[in-house]
Amino acid sequence: MNVSHTDAGKKGTTERRSFLTWLSSTALAGSAVISALANFVFLKPRATYGAPSRFSIGRPDQFPSGARIAIETRRICIAREGNQVAAISTTCTHLGCIVGVADTGFACPCHGSRYDQDGNVTGGPAPKALPWYQVKLAPNGDLEVDTNVEIKAGTYYNL
Ligand code: FES
Repeated sequence: MNVSHTDAGKKGTTERRSFLTWLSSTALAGSAVISALANFVFLKPRATYGAPSRFSIGRPDQFPSGARIAIETRRICIAREGNQVAAISTTCTHLGCIVGVADTGFACPCHGSRYDQDGNVTGGPAPKALPWYQVKLAPNGDLEVDTNVEIKAGTYYNL
């Protein structure tokens, strides 16, 4: 079989052309995929909002009368007296350590601040009392605390 120079040249041109077509199609498809991924990443919210300020702490009967139960993950202490319930911050007002529930009220392990049962400072470097937060009964029967809403110390929620 005899192949002329011009036939070989045409075949080479055709191969080059189909290779370039394949290359540009692949590049186009690749850039479309990358663009779609970039758009997806852009549309997906990247903000983190931290822990919610309003959250459920469970049923009222989980907090027996006279109990002072610290919920360390939420940095609050739930105090219940009869049918009254309150949420007191357990974040030390000195430098933010978590205070522990003590017989006399609250005690900070970091620099020794002491608070009474209502969160008033009784000793140590703490500059102010522990805040009290709003407590409500949610429609589903759970107690709900809102750490964005500070209330007057000594204000209990009536169940
Ligand atoms: S952080 Fe509580 S006394 Fe300093």
